[in-house]
Amino acid sequence: MVFGVRRIRKWQFMQIFASCFILSVMLLWGQQDTQIVSHVKSYSYRFLINNYSFVNNSLSISRNKIYGMPQYKYLINHKERCQAQDVLLLLFVKSSPESRHRRDAIRQTWGNEKYIFSEYDANIKIVFALGVQKDPVKRQILQAELKWEDQKYNDLIQQDFLDTFHNLTLKLVLQFEWANTYCPHAKFIMSADDDIFIHTPNLVSYLQSLEKTNVKDLWIGRVHRGSPPNRNRNSKYYVPYQMYQWSSYPDYTSGAAYVVSSDVAARVYEASQTLNTSFYIDDVFMGLCANKIGIMPQHHLFFSGEGKAPYHPCIYSKMMTSHGHVEDLHHLWQEATNHKINSLSAGFWGGIYCRLVNIILLCPLRFVDTYSCSAAWS
Ligand SMILES: *[C@@H]1O[C@H](CO)[C@@H](O)[C@H](O)[C@H]1NC(C)=O
Ligand SMILES: *[C@@H]1O[C@H](CO)[C@@H](O)[C@H](O)[C@H]1NC(C)=O
Ligand SMILES: *[C@@H]1O[C@H](CO)[C@@H](O)[C@H](O)[C@H]1NC(C)=O
Ligand SMILES: *[C@@H]1O[C@H](CO)[C@@H](O)[C@H](O)[C@H]1NC(C)=O
Repeated sequence: MVFGVRRIRKWQFMQIFASCFILSVMLLWGQQDTQIVSHVKSYSYRFLINNYSFVNNSLSISRNKIYGMPQYKYLINHKERCQAQDVLLLLFVKSSPESRHRRDAIRQTWGNEKYIFSEYDANIKIVFALGVQKDPVKRQILQAELKWEDQKYNDLIQQDFLDTFHNLTLKLVLQFEWANTYCPHAKFIMSADDDIFIHTPNLVSYLQSLEKTNVKDLWIGRVHRGSPPNRNRNSKYYVPYQMYQWSSYPDYTSGAAYVVSSDVAARVYEASQTLNTSFYIDDVFMGLCANKIGIMPQHHLFFSGEGKAPYHPCIYSKMMTSHGHVEDLHHLWQEATNHKINSLSAGFWGGIYCRLVNIILLCPLRFVDTYSCSAAWS
């Protein structure tokens, strides 16, 4: 008995000691902006306190200001694009006016709706979300080209905000607005970069299995937990204190690719209408919206963040997304959907072979930003 009490006290003491240690680290180094310090601060906040309710209030815009927020017009739209009744997945690719070659590569490979329909009996809709070119001279030419492209494919959605990195949150709002207005019946909504490879066959069969269970509150992707805001002025991701004063962000999924269920999409859209969109990191903004409605993201082992997955049939059989593919998209698509190559991983021995290969590919000692080592054991 006495022994038990002592053990508990000892455990409590350790906890208090650890908290004090972290707090003193925060206080002592509070003024310095080194990477390590900000990570220690943000992780300890995330894992000790994990309450971001203050964000809810401080980034909200007051009710009387909401009506004064700018509304962006659709320059190219397809209200009928999603008319089919049984849309499994509405997939937005964040593209920009000048990236025609990337869109074409996607249309010819993983974004080929007809192929997915005939091979996997699933209705998916892929649209490209665009703003307008920043440079007025180039813009005129590009707009004419976009019209041609759109007549051919009917898959562009464009609003009249400037297509810049710091306007990505406007593009996020465009996606959720469009999904809720023109495609509320889609079971799942996805947002992805235009330099990504999505293993649509794997994704579709995964979503079909989720659909059977009538899943709700789903937000899945590569989760970032306890990430600190970037305070380095020279970084693309720099966020000033005035914009976000705390040491860590609520959990969010990498903007490279993530999926939400339709109920989440509807509520995220509502939340996005009450938050200040001048916060320009779009995937974090998504996290702020989700925090407001009480949704937590779930981690999927085969969604990649910044990294590129290794090329191997044993990886293809499970991969969902891989980032950083442009030139090799055709090659990867052919390999990844080749049944002959992929039968390698079938059966008992195939399973053992692939487990070994995946450990070798995903668990090297040097750091490679790809699927985590635990994916090899899954
Ligand atoms: C978070 O903190 C606020 C007060 O700052 C409190 O009202 C709320 O209940 C807390 N939420 C959780 C989940 O602990
Ligand atoms: C975002 O788009 C709006 C509307 O076109 C424009 O006024 C603004 O300058 C853009 N912001 C950035 C940071 O590019
Ligand atoms: C949004 O935040 C910016 C600063 O980050 C601020 O200048 C602007 O007034 C805010 N907008 C609203 C409507 O509150
Ligand atoms: C955020 O604030 C709104 C009202 O401002 C409230 O209804 C909602 O429950 C809050 N969400 C969380 C997660 O605290």
